Amino acid sequence: MAEEVSGAPGDAPSRRKFFLITGWSSLGLFLAGAGAAFAKYFYPGVLYEPQTTFNAGKPSDFVKPANPNETIVDERFKKSQRVWIMRNTNGIYVMVAVCTHLGCTPNWFPGEQRFKCPCHGSNYNTQGEVVAGPAPLPLFRAKLSIAPDGSMIVTTGLLGIKRAELQYKKGVLLPRWTDEEKKDIAKAPYFLELKA
Ligand code: FES
Repeated sequence: MAEEVSGAPGDAPSRRKFFLITGWSSLGLFLAGAGAAFAKYFYPGVLYEPQTTFNAGKPSDFVKPANPNETIVDERFKKSQRVWIMRNTNGIYVMVAVCTHLGCTPNWFPGEQRFKCPCHGSNYNTQGEVVAGPAPLPLFRAKLSIAPDGSMIVTTGLLGIKRAELQYKKGVLLPRWTDEEKKDIAKAPYFLELKA
């Protein structure tokens, strides 16, 4: 008995071609999507809030460490202003408590002198530099100035963040401070030197 053949001659190859094209296109789309998601994972997803200014109290309100290798992190403004007031033996600086990866709030581990982000594991040292994880930039700095009554005025937000001014706008992503930036963050308005 002759085999029943359906459709016009040449149907099977064109159908095969169609499935091949569809298959490869789908695979291509999938890989493009996966590639984009992978790239996005390493790109900062932080939303910058408008600049805010608040009074953080007197420098003497912040405990000075006895050990020059230790930094004391004061978390009293972590929830309300999303900053840490950092006190080392030379003075005070303010770091923004927003992970530069996707914006979570890292936790401070004094024994290790490290911040660890609970979301994707980024670790930062006391200078805010990335020592592990996907975060693409150091933690940002807020500006610090002294009011006439001797209290500290902290300014956060995009305009108050040195790193954002220097690098984010240029599209350069470096998880550690450059030598030039290290000099910048070691002086006013990003560092308040205290003799006593
Ligand atoms: S938000 Fe991803 S590591 Fe912090």
